[in-house]
Amino acid sequence: MSATTPQRRLTVADITRLYRDGQRIPMLTAYDYPTARIVDDSGIPMILVGDSLGEVLLGYESTVRVSIEEMLHHTRAVVRGAQHALVVGDMPFLTYPSAEDAIENAGRFMRDAGAGAVKVEGGVRSAPIIEALVKTGIPVMGHIGWTPQAKYGMGGKTGVQGKDRDQARRLIGDALAVQQAGAFSVVLELMPEELSAAITERLSIPTIGIGAGAGCSGQVQVITDLLGLGSFIPRHAKPYLHLREAIGEAVSAYAADVQAGTFPEPGQTSRMDDEVLAEVLGAGRMDQPDPTAALGIPLDRDL
Ligand code: KIV
Repeated sequence: MSATTPQRRLTVADITRLYRDGQRIPMLTAYDYPTARIVDDSGIPMILVGDSLGEVLLGYESTVRVSIEEMLHHTRAVVRGAQHALVVGDMPFLTYPSAEDAIENAGRFMRDAGAGAVKVEGGVRSAPIIEALVKTGIPVMGHIGWTPQAKYGMGGKTGVQGKDRDQARRLIGDALAVQQAGAFSVVLELMPEELSAAITERLSIPTIGIGAGAGCSGQVQVITDLLGLGSFIPRHAKPYLHLREAIGEAVSAYAADVQAGTFPEPGQTSRMDDEVLAEVLGAGRMDQPDPTAALGIPLDRDL
């Protein structure tokens, strides 16, 4: 993926260029330093520090529980790990109720944590917030369709959005509002593929789909789904690895080795000089009885 692995950090302008060049944009979430390094080294141009970390990493029952401090902590780690990718910080629940709050909190993602952009959920309702952020110089990715932070407001049940006429019209309006407000791209989550393709066609910014079919300008996946690490893999995700099983096997093999005394092996063990050890334990040359003492020869110290 040579076009996506330059030796400097990508900006939203590079993402726009990829889109205008007709390249499909792969995006992944990452939440920690080692994963961000791997994702970055693989040439992924955009990394999302998603508030999905609340569910997949921290064990909360919903993203609503995630705090800005937790998001900043993980964003800093990802920024340290990713040298080239544009890192997008996900603004958590209740951090953008007003333009002032949004600017203050998005500023923390950019200035304190080093993110290159932030993501904000909501279409028409979030457009004024997006506009205020963009005017301040903060690049924004929108997010419409299924918006996990509105889970409880949307009835608490995850589901595909936009299947009926009114919802579909509303989502087209949301997409246009987000673009009009100045977002550089927009996530389309859990939508029928026909609708996300129609939205993609009507916009002049890239759409990044998740559970929204192949007609988007790019795709985003939650890294733990891609790696098969979670206990539950959503229908829209394709595990490219089965890490949960692989980790379970490795842990069981380790435990068995420890119990059998076959770990550590010589290769994982260091040794010390036998003579030094003998001295330390009181059996070295210096510790032998003084042969002159028995002969009554006075020593210097006795004179
Ligand atoms: O939090 C997240 O990971 C997200 C993606 C699912 C788009 O918002």
